Amino acid sequence: MLRIDSLTTDHGQVRAVDHVSFDVEVGSCTAVIGANGAGKSSLLRTLSGLVKSSSGSAHWGDVDLLKLPTSEVVRHGVAHVPEGRSVIAELSVEENLNLGALWRGKDPDVTVTKSEVLDLFPRLGERLKQGADSLSGGERQMLAIGRALMARPKLLLLDEPSLGLAPIVIEQIFHTIDTMRKATGLTVVLVEQNAVSALAIANHAIVLALGKIVASGEAKAIASDESLRHAYLGY
Ligand SMILES: Nc1ncnc2c1ncn2[C@@H]1O[C@H](COP(=O)(O)OP(=O)(O)OP(=O)(O)O)[C@@H](O)[C@H]1O
Ligand SMILES: [Mg+2]
Repeated sequence: MLRIDSLTTDHGQVRAVDHVSFDVEVGSCTAVIGANGAGKSSLLRTLSGLVKSSSGSAHWGDVDLLKLPTSEVVRHGVAHVPEGRSVIAELSVEENLNLGALWRGKDPDVTVTKSEVLDLFPRLGERLKQGADSLSGGERQMLAIGRALMARPKLLLLDEPSLGLAPIVIEQIFHTIDTMRKATGLTVVLVEQNAVSALAIANHAIVLALGKIVASGEAKAIASDESLRHAYLGY
């Protein structure tokens, strides 16, 4: 499982993640919700090694995530889809996908993974040779997720996959994440401001405010807690 204990991350004077502790069972989905600046991205970036923690611990099974460089984190089955649909605009859709599997070298199963990804996102299959810069926002997000899946991760860290997308595309992407998790036993940490969509597919949820966990529990219980909704979830 993913075990996070008293994790703290500072950006200079700003304490972005403040003694955060939670566990995520293998094969489950935990939603991390909270307002702008709550520390959600900083939490994911700490887990994938992009920023250094100040204290605390984070283990994925027996792997100490805080001790590894980002390139090693991916080898231990952890994939991070950062905020902002980050794809490489100069490369084609297919080249972007291939990048996700780079560390797998000549693994013959890479082609199997690619066809699985294209089954999940058929739109990408229709656009393999197109430049990534020609994709719509939703298609770029599909590509960013698809590229992460090319690494055949066991733990997927998703940062606001719904940001700026039309409701129908959001629904499709969340449905895909949910189906994939149930089919493959993938473990998911889903950072979202779109609390309604995230809580609908999550098993558990934590609510962050100013870097601290202010509520946690079963996703259903969080979703139906009216005072939490008013105070932190904005609906
Ligand atoms: N590189 C950085 N340097 C300085 N401060 C930073 C840096 N990155 C984040 N912060 C600060 O840390 C806090 C948490 O930011 P973070 O990006 O983790 O929030 P978030 O919950 O992901 O917000 P959003 O929903 O807007 O994406 C904010 O106050 C932010 O200004
Ligand atoms: Mg963020």
